[in-house]
Amino acid sequence: MGRITINDFIKKKTECNKISMITAYDYPFAQIADEAGIDAILVGDSLGMVVQGLENTLPVSMWEMLYHTKLVSRAVRNAMVIGDMPFMSYQTGTADAVRNAGRFLKEAGASAIKLEGGTEVEEHIRAMTRADIPVMAHIGLTPQAIHRMGGFKVQGRTEDSANKLLREAHLVEDAGAFALILEAIPVDLAKRITEEISIPTIGIGAGPHCDGQVLVLHDVLGLFDRFVPKFVKKYANLKEDALKALVRYRKEIEEGLFPSDEHRFK
Ligand code: KIV
Repeated sequence: MGRITINDFIKKKTECNKISMITAYDYPFAQIADEAGIDAILVGDSLGMVVQGLENTLPVSMWEMLYHTKLVSRAVRNAMVIGDMPFMSYQTGTADAVRNAGRFLKEAGASAIKLEGGTEVEEHIRAMTRADIPVMAHIGLTPQAIHRMGGFKVQGRTEDSANKLLREAHLVEDAGAFALILEAIPVDLAKRITEEISIPTIGIGAGPHCDGQVLVLHDVLGLFDRFVPKFVKKYANLKEDALKALVRYRKEIEEGLFPSDEHRFK
């Protein structure tokens, strides 16, 4: 079985099969996500927060995104690998946007890219699609715009902003995006967008009617507790498990219990 393609994404929507997606940023976790049968792995710029310990995603660079995308691509056999375009890698113009998007495919082994925005990235999506770069769009709460939005806030609650998001969903579809992330918007709006457009919607804090779901790996596994959004479901508590393991390791060293006979050379 080869890697999942954009055609498989569309087929899933047509056949009413849900799409599973998660972020990953390195070889071991990408391998686990792939073995778990997850359809798509997003190398998200959320790595700025959950891996680099930053306050937001804005400082993440192209070099860092390409580096992490390479680690993930090396591990993955089946899932689609999607590289996330960092802040200022596409906002400066269509030529920059296409050049930087192409680097994810050419240098880092991704088979698609994701970028944030609606109207303002329409031309970029058209140009990338013309260059055979599959594009996943992302509207609603777009973390690279936190300063404009005034923080990590639910979007589309007023009639005007809901209508704007609906228009933008159609716009990115017309521009050639193969899928659309809907982040932190009301359930009914996500349902309406999902019903109106022909490309799959992937929700994060957008309710159950989307064609698929995505979450940040470190939230799902309980590795990041500085800030846990309401829409996150924790499926494990790896931080607690890792802490217990390392405390035990330290104590066994201090007490002379490690290394024991089985871990020594004679
Ligand atoms: O950067 C990221 O991980 C994302 C997802 C949360 C959608 O954009």
